[in-house]
Parts: sequence; structure tokens; C-alpha cells
Amino acid sequence: MQEAALQERFWPYVFLALSSGGTAAILSVLDRPYWLIFLAVFFIVVIFALIRVALHDPVDEPASELVVQPPPGALPAGFGRALLDQMPLALVVISPVGRITYGNKAAKLQFPHAKKGDHFATLLRTPAFVDAVNDVIANGGNRKVAFSAGQETKHYYEARIGVLPAGSEFGASEQILVDIEDRTLEHRSDKMRSDFIANASHELRTPLASILGYIETLQGHARDDLKAREKFLKIMHKQASRMQRLVDDLMSLSRIELNAHVRPSTPCNIFDLVREAVAGLKPLEAENHVVLDCRLPENGPVIPGDRDQLNQVFINLLVNAMKYGDKGETVEIEQAPETPERAGMVGITVRDHGPGIAPKHIERLTERFYRVNAAQSRNKGGTGLGLAIVKHILQRHRGQLQIESVEGQGSEFTVWLPVTA
Ligand SMILES: Nc1ncnc2c1ncn2[C@@H]1O[C@H](COP(=O)(O)OP(=O)(O)O)[C@@H](O)[C@H]1O
Ligand SMILES: [Mg+2]
Repeated sequence: MQEAALQERFWPYVFLALSSGGTAAILSVLDRPYWLIFLAVFFIVVIFALIRVALHDPVDEPASELVVQPPPGALPAGFGRALLDQMPLALVVISPVGRITYGNKAAKLQFPHAKKGDHFATLLRTPAFVDAVNDVIANGGNRKVAFSAGQETKHYYEARIGVLPAGSEFGASEQILVDIEDRTLEHRSDKMRSDFIANASHELRTPLASILGYIETLQGHARDDLKAREKFLKIMHKQASRMQRLVDDLMSLSRIELNAHVRPSTPCNIFDLVREAVAGLKPLEAENHVVLDCRLPENGPVIPGDRDQLNQVFINLLVNAMKYGDKGETVEIEQAPETPERAGMVGITVRDHGPGIAPKHIERLTERFYRVNAAQSRNKGGTGLGLAIVKHILQRHRGQLQIESVEGQGSEFTVWLPVTA
């Protein structure tokens, strides 16, 4: 269509050149005067036509001039690009031969290595993506693909591929428009949710199966065995208590999550609060063969907080220190020395002299159901949720949990809380 328009435009030049050239030739053959004038006209016409061709490269000619005249009120040139640049999704236009012709701002941020003119596989080499784009290039239509890419850190993407009509500002022929959405975060949270449900069900199923087993035994051959009944009821009580602790911890977690965005504001004398938690656990000292030694100064800061939740933070840390600290040792509770990177915060350390924790476990301790030794934790009545609860409560208070440990020497769990709201 462009070529036809071009030929049409140059017909007058051809006609003028032929007629002036022909006249000059006839006049010169007949040896008549003025033939030089016609020859000069011929050259002028040819030179003028060449200049027009040089200045108006038909490839650069705005499509609207040659192909379609924009109707009155049409969107201004460049509007499409400006619109795509505002989109939060990464959008890429690909030519029918598979070259990148345009990428919006989000695409440039997400794929900084891919340049205009590169093959589209520079964006993502995953076969599922490459095949889908090639399919739309060959057959048209729309495609949607979900796939993962990356070796060390896997990213999850969803891409939609469609066709832009010919004559758009991206080119005279049809172009391919691709949007690529990074869904790694959603994927991770979906996986966390399903893992959490699977873990919680597993933790509940084990004691439940044990209780059901003992009920059957008591209904069957142990019906009249008084001694066995005593023993089995004790075990059933232990298992039922474990289920109850688990349900309590799950409820705590969901309550904390429900209020996660509400800043706590009750004034709490934090050192008094810790002293109360320590006093409440004194009766467990003998059972665990440890001594709780609270060394906090008399006067402490009054900070905005949620009393019940902060109490739970210290109970969880103190119970852990008592459970996992070696028998016959002390558990020290101290004010942590102030540090410049935690200016404006008060720190309280719970230190035990137990076996300590290997560095590879430390960063995962606050994950739900993460335990260094699952059997040991269950045996000591743990649910695997204590430190996850601590982390969530501290997040709500804009605080931090610092864990330091030397294997064979013990562990220090320091709670940092902002002093002012
Ligand atoms: N003071 C500590 N010393 C050694 N290990 C600890 C200590 N506190 C916690 N841990 C480890 O962290 C894991 C997770 O703790 P937590 O979330 O409180 O769950 P739980 O105590 O119910 O197992 C524990 O199972 C234990 O392996
Ligand atoms: Mg615990």
C-alpha cells in the first residue's frame, strides 16, 4: 500500500522528465535552437525528484500520511507509548520476526539486560514462554502462560500474549504485545499458607491418633485392667494437653495477625512487666532444675504496648530458656547495652547456658513449626510456634528479636522495643 502511494506521487516527475528529455533529444537531432533549455529542464526535474526521494524515506514516513488519515478527534501520536509507560505491569512489543521493538518503564526495570532490537528470548529463556510467543507470532490469537525461571532464586511469572493491529505506532505490520507479571511473592505466600495448614494438621493428627488408639484399647482387651487404665489415661491426658496448647498457639497467632496493623498504645512499665513474667514462672524452676535470675534495674522506661502480648513474648522466651538450657544452670534476664543502630529502643536479654544453636538454624527459628530437634521439642511440650508468636508480636510493636548463640555455651534472645510511640 505504501509503495503504490509512492509511485502515484512520482508519476508527474516521470512525465515531466520524459517530455522535457524527449523534446531536447528531438530538437538536438533536428539541430534546432533551445534544445539545451529542455535538457536543463530534464536535469532539474530529475535532481528535484532525487532530492524528494532522499528526504522522504518511505520507511520513516509517518504511517498516518501514507496509510490512514487519523479521523478528527483521534488520539495524538505517541499516546500509546505514554499510556503503556504508566502501566505497572511489564509490557513489551515484539515485531513479527521476534525482535523487541518497545518496552515500557516497568519492563526496563524488570529486564534491564534486554535492549531494543534483541530477540525476545533475551527477556526470559524459559521454553514455555518462548513457545507461547512463537505460537502467537505464527498463528495469532491470545495465549496465557504461567512458568518459573531462574536457577538460584526461582521467580514465578504469568505472561499474556496478544496481537496489536497493523498500522499502530509500533509499526506498519501487526505486532505482538506481551505483558509479564512477576508472581513470586503471591506464589511464596500461597505456599506458606498451604505448608502451614499441612503442618498444623499433622501436629494435631498425631496426638489425636494416639488418643483414639488408647480409647479402643480401653474399650477392648484392657477394659478390666485397672493398672493399664491408669497408665493409658495419663498418656491420653498428655496428648490432649498437647493438642490444647497447639490450638491455643494457633488462636494466638491468628489474633495477633488480625491486629497486626493496629499500633498498641497502652503505657507499659516494661521492666515491671518482665519481672511479673519471671515471678509467674518461678514455680517451674524446680521442675526444670534452673534458676531465673532477673537483673533488670529498678526503674525502667514506660513504653506503648499491648500488655498481654508483651507478657506472652517474655513467657515464650523464658520457657524456651528453661526447657532448652542445661539443668542446674541459671537463666539471666538483663537490660541490653544501648547501641547506635538501635537508638531510641530498649533491649531486654534472656540468656541461657544450654547447648546453643548452630548458625544455620538461627535465621529460621521464627518460622512456624521450625524446630532444631522436633522430637525433643514435642517431648518438652513445645508446639514449634513460640518464636513465631514472638516475632509477630514484636512486628506489631515495631520491635526486633536479636538471636545470638555460641554452640556449647548458650543462647541470648534480646527483645528490642521502641521507647516512644
Ligand atoms: N534457648 C534456646 N536454646 C536452644 N534452642 C532453642 C532455644 N529457644 C528455642 N530453641 C529452638 O528453637 C525451636 C523453636 O522454638 P519455639 O518456636 O519456641 O518452639 P518450641 O519451643 O515449641 O519447639 C525449638 O524447638 C528449639 O529447637
Ligand atoms: Mg517454645
